[in-house]
Amino acid sequence: MEPKKENQSDLFAGFHTVFKSFATDAIHIGQEPEQWKSMAVVPPISLSTTFKQNGPGNHAGFEYSRSGNPTRNVLEKAVAALDGAKYCLALASGLAATVTITHMLKAGDGIVCMDDVYGGTNRYFQKVAAQFGLEISFADCTKPELLKAAIKNNTKMVWIETPTNPTMKVVDIRACSDLAHEHNKDIIVVVDNTFMSAYFQRPLALGADICMYSATKYMNGHSDVVMGLISVNDEALYDRLKFLQNALGGVPSPFDCFLCNRGLKTLHLRMERHFKNAMAAAKFLEADPRVDRVIFPGLRSHPQYDVVKKQCTGCPGMITFYIKGKLEHASTFLSNLKMFAVAESLGGYESLAEHPAIMTHASVPEKERAVLGISDTLIRLSVGLEDEEDIIEDLAQALAAAVSI
Ligand SMILES: Cc1ncc(COP(=O)(O)O)c(C=O)c1O
Repeated sequence: MEPKKENQSDLFAGFHTVFKSFATDAIHIGQEPEQWKSMAVVPPISLSTTFKQNGPGNHAGFEYSRSGNPTRNVLEKAVAALDGAKYCLALASGLAATVTITHMLKAGDGIVCMDDVYGGTNRYFQKVAAQFGLEISFADCTKPELLKAAIKNNTKMVWIETPTNPTMKVVDIRACSDLAHEHNKDIIVVVDNTFMSAYFQRPLALGADICMYSATKYMNGHSDVVMGLISVNDEALYDRLKFLQNALGGVPSPFDCFLCNRGLKTLHLRMERHFKNAMAAAKFLEADPRVDRVIFPGLRSHPQYDVVKKQCTGCPGMITFYIKGKLEHASTFLSNLKMFAVAESLGGYESLAEHPAIMTHASVPEKERAVLGISDTLIRLSVGLEDEEDIIEDLAQALAAAVSI
């Protein structure tokens, strides 16, 4: 890994070094004008569902758009480069990526999943995959000894999300991957890298077998595409997943591939600004007496701050905090926000705020929410790319409206 050349600001000091030529790769890999007869510099949107063959089976690499599409190819090549991977596959949503990956297993196989994951992942594993005979168990992977205890002889997959959604727990990817592979080298370690994006974390370089994303979030970054991405290095895993991409059919449209590919061109710039704005907002909230606790991986107070510094090159715009009081105070805070939109999702250029217990994580059973700390006073922010002062001003006025001191 090359030392960081740009961004030597205090913000990035002490973090893992930035990935070499990231911006250049985001802009050029897979985008070569020479691949098109027109020599288009910006890759065209190839809408055709079918491709002419010179004779049966004699074609230029494309047959049918579910199996392969030129615009999807462009995106997949760019993402593979950004993940330091050999291969990438694009799917119709993050959950379609999760389903596709899980279809590599069969009835009787076990999955050990990080105990705090996106609500839809939890719901899919417990309410769908379990019905097909997969054995799902949960472990707090921030304590690798708990993961070790949860791995059984039938465990075929370990599913990690880091930082977790919404309580921002950080998992040591290297420690958990090594531990799983020591037990059985064939266990597939998957990391949901949605929150960090390829710019801040490379799970494959840390020992994971699969890096997946809800590209709906930072990778696309403009809140106008629902998409999933899967990156791998191992050829056999890729072949299996490529087969499943086509066999299950959860593929994205060429237009969405075009948009996501365009979003990647500014990923590095966006993530740096998300980091700067979120750090300022997190420090502001941490100092405010109307806030009980702030969880942001970039703060020294974060329980796994050392792991963050070791495995990440920075932090995204995700902040979770507990407001003082009860549900009504959290609700009043959210209703009084002026610039932040109260909405689900995250990772776009615009600032969003939400109430996980009522919104994104309502599908997690109440008892489990209580254990995880997804309480009535928990608020999740996706800090956007607006001006730092305006972000703080909005948070300050909504806090003042919600809690009196
Ligand atoms: C961490 C994480 N993983 C997966 C998903 C599912 O992705 P999608 O909504 O694109 O299906 C989400 C969605 O919010 C998420 O936050």
